[in-house]
Amino acid sequence: MIYLDNAATTFPKPMSVRNAVVNSISNYGANPGRGGHDLAVRASEIIYKSRSKTADFFGEKDAENVIFTSGCTHSINIVLKGLLKPGDHVVVSDMEHNAVMRPLYALKKKKISYSVARVSDVSSDETLENFRNALQENTRLVVCTHVSNVWGTRLPVERITAMCHQYSIPVLIDAAQSAGVLGIDLDESNFDYICMPGHKGLYGPMGTGILITKHHDDLETLIEGGTGSNSALFEQPGTSPDKFESGTPNLSGIAGLGAGIDFVRSVSCEKIHAHEINLLAHLYDRLEKNKNIILYTPRPNVYNSGGVLSFNVKNHDSEEVAAVLNRRFSIFVRAGLHCSPLAHLHHSTEETGAVRIAPSYFNTISEMNVLAASLKKI
Ligand code: ALA
Repeated sequence: MIYLDNAATTFPKPMSVRNAVVNSISNYGANPGRGGHDLAVRASEIIYKSRSKTADFFGEKDAENVIFTSGCTHSINIVLKGLLKPGDHVVVSDMEHNAVMRPLYALKKKKISYSVARVSDVSSDETLENFRNALQENTRLVVCTHVSNVWGTRLPVERITAMCHQYSIPVLIDAAQSAGVLGIDLDESNFDYICMPGHKGLYGPMGTGILITKHHDDLETLIEGGTGSNSALFEQPGTSPDKFESGTPNLSGIAGLGAGIDFVRSVSCEKIHAHEINLLAHLYDRLEKNKNIILYTPRPNVYNSGGVLSFNVKNHDSEEVAAVLNRRFSIFVRAGLHCSPLAHLHHSTEETGAVRIAPSYFNTISEMNVLAASLKKI
């Protein structure tokens, strides 16, 4: 079995992550922050540790600015629906996932509009100008994915953020494919809102996500409820993270996420990224020699790419290729539109979709060779 669908979720998880999840369920699975008994306190400490680790890992000084969510989609919804008001305008890149596009589409009913800025395949200067040209008087937010979940394209998010800040426009970065792979230091990059899953490059369990922001006062809440704090008040607490974390938290998920961050730290983002790019560049060289393969993007490199590569096999539907890889070769990849129809329009693959290869730190060069050889047989 060769698993190459790590852009959807990383698998396998490191042993330390599996152990942290089992340990939480087996040894201290009480409700964190809801009671003063020893087990509840131990559970709270684990959540606190994971929050502090997350803050530290991303260069955020205040751990209270780290909000745990159920996933990147949840984090993005908190920002879009908490921030935007009727009459507001948003600029997005043409590589955005439906986690961004569907909430924005739904917000059209509330008279919130958006424009799409094209990402240049050759020049970050051009990308930057496309974003600048899309800004309007009423632009309230710019949303930009860090790495395309289809093409692996790395967007110039630091430059886009600096440009938007010249106009006092905040920026939301969708780090779904970059968190844990590209080093992110919020102290330097100054992203206003960064949204990410816990279960992809951070190697935590599914059902975990993160939003990091200093600007929580600007956000209305999506849901309200019990937080274990200020219980006498009917009013939702106004301070982060409680403001956004109503209901019993995902203790075992957050415990596993903390262990995942420890794992990434122990290896380093730089090494993980270099490993994934090395695998994809090797695969790319093999695919380039196969006349039946259509490639859309340049050879992966650490400066312009994350750990994702998509292609097609001539005269074959992408879903059919993925099904054959699954059935005949036990190679697991994702094909189709990857919940990102906009990104597929970028390379005109909206009809065919594409076959996506997304390795993790646990994949090897020999697996890339098996994949390339299998594709030759199709
Ligand atoms: N967003 C995830 C993907 O790209 C699920 O597959």
